[in-house]
Amino acid sequence: MSAELKHKQATAPAVQVRGLNVVYATNQGDLPAVRQVDLDIEARKITGIIGESGSGKSTLVMAMMNAVGKPGQIVSGSVEVLGVGDMLSIDRERQRKARGKELGLVFQAAQNSLNPLRRIGHQVLDLGRSHDVKDLRDLLRKAKDLLTRLGMDADRVLASYQHELSGGMRQRVGIMFALILDAKIVILDEATTALDMLSQASVLEIVRELHKERGLTTILVTHDMGVVADMADRVVVMYGGEIVEEGPSEFVLSHPAHPYTQGLVRAIPRISGDIDRAVPLQGAPADLKTYLEPGCPFYQRCPVAMPKCQESRPTSLAVSQDRKVACFKVTDHD
Ligand SMILES: Nc1ncnc2c1ncn2[C@@H]1O[C@H](COP(=O)(O)OP(=O)(O)O)[C@@H](O)[C@H]1O
Ligand SMILES: [Mg+2]
Repeated sequence: MSAELKHKQATAPAVQVRGLNVVYATNQGDLPAVRQVDLDIEARKITGIIGESGSGKSTLVMAMMNAVGKPGQIVSGSVEVLGVGDMLSIDRERQRKARGKELGLVFQAAQNSLNPLRRIGHQVLDLGRSHDVKDLRDLLRKAKDLLTRLGMDADRVLASYQHELSGGMRQRVGIMFALILDAKIVILDEATTALDMLSQASVLEIVRELHKERGLTTILVTHDMGVVADMADRVVVMYGGEIVEEGPSEFVLSHPAHPYTQGLVRAIPRISGDIDRAVPLQGAPADLKTYLEPGCPFYQRCPVAMPKCQESRPTSLAVSQDRKVACFKVTDHD
């Protein structure tokens, strides 16, 4: 293999999203929930996807697995997964195999995604069989190891039904399921939000360890800037179904460029460093109807909006190497 090819493979993004559009059918017609998203997920890094509730984070990661459920629909785009192909166009069986084997997902609703009628241990075996795992005993051993690391009594959990576990325990079980087939790309959608602060910190610490040990590409979806600050190498900020800012998290959090990111950072004194001046974000988050307006989705709440922002939508532009922002105030130089 040539040195150049080797370098290319080493630096190829783990996931490449292009021109992704997802809508939900409502009684007002199809409304866009993810709009024209282009995104590279860097391999072996932790990428945080942040935004208020309703900004399209879950829809985006579900679309990355081609698992958007009705009334949602992927309208256009591609999701190129390293070693798999375009999740949106490969055949269904290959997609199904990739979910779990290459892409591990902990749903936001992990609490409800378990089968209520089967013991957790049986569900581990079901998953193994559906992915042609030969050594099921070994799979159970892996499940035990993971559950133990996640701070649980593994034998008890494997013998339990979902209703016998607390919300926090179910979330940990969800994390176990995402990792058990050795997926290299792992998506955690608000996977620690049902946990109290202490448990959240300890589970995130374990996620960080596993990420390092296994050389994972980890996507951490959260509405908590603190989690991004503690965990993520890169951050992707979503608002109104669009990516409004992205870049190295340290840099984005210390020098947020988009007024929305600035608002998110200012609301958290621990990050802004200014305890006396925590300023909560004003106004209500965008909803699907906001998205239909022609201007910037953040226009209504933006403290520095210009007339132009109401009329047209800023596109995401590189403002420096490695950093993109969708805001006229930042990208217009005339
Ligand atoms: N099943 C659904 N039917 C209709 N609208 C939906 C559905 N799921 C999500 N939405 C809408 O899509 C938008 C994005 O939602 P979601 O991806 O869940 O955001 P987030 O994960 O950032 O909270 C929201 O406005 C939400 O109300
Ligand atoms: Mg969500």
